[in-house]
Amino acid sequence: MGATAAHIAALKELGDIVLIDVVEGLPQGIALDISSAAPLEGFDCSITGTNRYEDTRNSDIVIITAGLARKPGMTRNDLLEKNAEIVKSIAAQTAKYSPDACLIVVTNPLDAMAYVAKKAAGFPKNRVMGMAGVLDSARLRAFIAAELKAPPCNVSAMVLGGHGDAMVPIMSRCMIAGVPITELLPKEKIDEIIERTRNAGAEVLSLLKTSSAYYSPAASVMEMAEAVLKDRKKILPCSAYLEGEYGVNDCFAGVPVKLGAGGIEEIIEIELTEEEKRLFLKSAGEVKKLIAKLRF
Ligand code: LAC
Repeated sequence: MGATAAHIAALKELGDIVLIDVVEGLPQGIALDISSAAPLEGFDCSITGTNRYEDTRNSDIVIITAGLARKPGMTRNDLLEKNAEIVKSIAAQTAKYSPDACLIVVTNPLDAMAYVAKKAAGFPKNRVMGMAGVLDSARLRAFIAAELKAPPCNVSAMVLGGHGDAMVPIMSRCMIAGVPITELLPKEKIDEIIERTRNAGAEVLSLLKTSSAYYSPAASVMEMAEAVLKDRKKILPCSAYLEGEYGVNDCFAGVPVKLGAGGIEEIIEIELTEEEKRLFLKSAGEVKKLIAKLRF
């Protein structure tokens, strides 16, 4: 996924790119491969691979995708303890070499890993965020578009809460060019799409068998990185550190935020239906349980 994200970053010329991995040769090989596409694809940025954190010094954005991946039949939560160790060490090294960076966490279980990263880096809450909502919302948008034979980019939708089986698609806000989806599709179809969205990561995994999704997660994380690097002030659903917003405290969960040069510049509190509120609190509660297991 990191390699795919790096390729997208190069295509968009978002900046110079450093790939880092513990496996010797792997990031160097990928960097060489992507760089060799530059004359054909027309991008002009430096892409290097390394096994040393020194080479990532003064990064503007650090994206953490490292960690064990799910195998078919595993939930994201099964990765908790092992990935917490990995994320902790990366976040600490990041803070050392790039003290002003924005940290975007992708490693699962996502919201708990964002919490670990924030603690380990010691960064303020605006500079640590998790990528999940953009991906889950993109899946929801793609499924709705396919059902209605509408252009995917015409569908706006939001999935909030934790990036787990209890994620909360906010159907009251789901529209195609301003037309509520509830007026275009019957309830049974909408319920089916919600279920498919919740399971979309597992659906890809069960097909690929040896890997989770990577094209859509990579595109999602680059949407966030671009909003920060270009100070777009874009409103996107991201996992953010909550201190009372949406009734949740000391926990990461997916909420709409404004992303700009300052990272998460604002958490936007929208009105949810009673049912959506209940599901959001339940989903955040699942994240809290995971964080509690890590004994911070
Ligand atoms: C997924 C992984 C990235 O949802 O959690 O595909």
